Amino acid sequence: MKIVAINASPRRKWNTATLVGEAAEGAKSEGAEVVTFNLYDLGVYSGCVSCFGCKIGNNKGKCVHKDGLSKVLDEIRTADGLIMGSPNYLGDVTAAFRALYERLVFQYITYSNDPWSYNERHIPVLMIMTSNISEERYPEVGYDVVLEKYKQTLSAHIGPTDIMISGDTLQVNDYSKYDWGYFDPEKKKIRHETEFPAERKKVFELGAEMVRRLSK
Ligand SMILES: Cc1cc2nc3c(=O)[nH]c(=O)nc-3n(C[C@H](O)[C@H](O)[C@H](O)COP(=O)(O)O)c2cc1C
Repeated sequence: MKIVAINASPRRKWNTATLVGEAAEGAKSEGAEVVTFNLYDLGVYSGCVSCFGCKIGNNKGKCVHKDGLSKVLDEIRTADGLIMGSPNYLGDVTAAFRALYERLVFQYITYSNDPWSYNERHIPVLMIMTSNISEERYPEVGYDVVLEKYKQTLSAHIGPTDIMISGDTLQVNDYSKYDWGYFDPEKKKIRHETEFPAERKKVFELGAEMVRRLSK
């Protein structure tokens, strides 16, 4: 059993990477092999370049554009489950997540009614988003709608998708260095020490559960 785990934050050890890592550990605890990618370590790549190579002949359903994302797409193609984490950047995912998402999903879209997706091998997806805004405030700022769109599209073309949100994250260790009067550093620190560990446990369990369900 193989799970692909993706960190789409440019920071390799912060909130998103930590939660993706926990989900990966959960999957491993149930016997899965996990292949992890930090998208910001992959060199040069882009989103979909609109070549439509994935709609022709033997390449139907397969992105043919070759760059740093190609090996990630190849690994996902043979994976049994997918864990994808992104920080919220300006109300959406990061540019790196979006590049992978475009390439991953568009290769399967057929532009016909039957079949409407080339992907016949659906796999479970866990999408993790971390953000400054708390999960409770997602409806107020419209992030719930943004995430719902990702959930629906991923569910349709990749497989049944669960979303996990970790809001009100600690963004830096020392807030006093920055011109960031909006935040209460003490509250952020307390939340990071009390609630973030519970989120780590929760996402570990989600990773483990993904593999348990696949094993049934
Ligand atoms: C360029 C940029 C844009 C951001 N935009 C938002 C935003 O619109 N809403 C929000 O809640 N947090 C926003 N954040 C905060 C991050 O989503 C949050 O700190 C996240 O947990 C960082 O993840 P990381 O620690 O894995 O890098 C932004 C951060 C950066 C660097």
